[in-house]
Amino acid sequence: MTVGEVLRRATEYLAGKGVESPRLDAELLLGKALTLSRVQLYMEHDRPLAEPERDAFRELIRRRGEREPLAYVLGEWGFRRLTLATDRRALVPRPETEVLVERCLALLDGLPAPRVLDVGTGSGAIALAIADEHPGSAVTAIDVSPEALALARENSARTGVAVELVEQDLTGGLGEAEYDLVVSNPPYVTEEEWATLQPEVRDWEPRLATVGEDHTDEIADHARDALRPGGHLVLEVADLRAQAVAALLERCGYEDVTVTEDLAGRDRIVEGRRP
Ligand SMILES: C[S@@+](CC[C@H](N)C(=O)[O-])C[C@H]1O[C@@H](n2cnc3c(N)ncnc32)[C@H](O)[C@@H]1O
Repeated sequence: MTVGEVLRRATEYLAGKGVESPRLDAELLLGKALTLSRVQLYMEHDRPLAEPERDAFRELIRRRGEREPLAYVLGEWGFRRLTLATDRRALVPRPETEVLVERCLALLDGLPAPRVLDVGTGSGAIALAIADEHPGSAVTAIDVSPEALALARENSARTGVAVELVEQDLTGGLGEAEYDLVVSNPPYVTEEEWATLQPEVRDWEPRLATVGEDHTDEIADHARDALRPGGHLVLEVADLRAQAVAALLERCGYEDVTVTEDLAGRDRIVEGRRP
């Protein structure tokens, strides 16, 4: 069978399994199996596959057909300027979180050596992207999950970006007047919402990373102590809760509370400044 034929068959198979973008996923997975770019796949459309290549591709398509997230099957995923290792130990970094990082970088602009805390770092995506794009920053990242921290450590090593990684439960507090910026993409999905999510999230991503109803409030509370006067808190939130979180930050005494949209135009980022 040729590249074109196996792609057509894999696309049909993935579509039958309910995968949202079956052709794109099939191309990316065949690219991984053959170590070819998508453009090269098109150029080699009529090239027959060797048996070991077909076996390798079949296994990747089988995994995706079980609705394992594409990023886990590929084993790596792009986030800002970095390519991060991705697997079941942590949430797949999302495009809206890139906008969260954008806001952090804007708030840190002009500070030569800011101290930053990333709460619930998962793969390390936010912490590593900030450290990468704001040279001079000293970034600490905490997570309660040792598995996630192990992945973050691997990502620090593979990207060559240094951050301090600490196993810590956010509910115990975040320190005293230490940071210029506290950022978090906390778990914010309710139990009821979780049951309705796509299998990729529900069956594969860590539940600890997705389900949580009090984390946003707790971080807002603890960050007020952990920030230096004038420091900023930046939170990713569920779009329908952005206004409620903005009101919460105001009640907690934060000033200049602002809501920013993600790339899809949904209210997703809420920030405030400690007076
Ligand atoms: C939504 S994920 C975000 C991961 C990563 N920051 C990102 O944006 O891709 C939330 C993270 O919070 C961590 N977490 C959950 N409960 C926590 C707690 N009580 N203390 C610290 N981290 C916690 C989870 O292990 C998970 O890695």
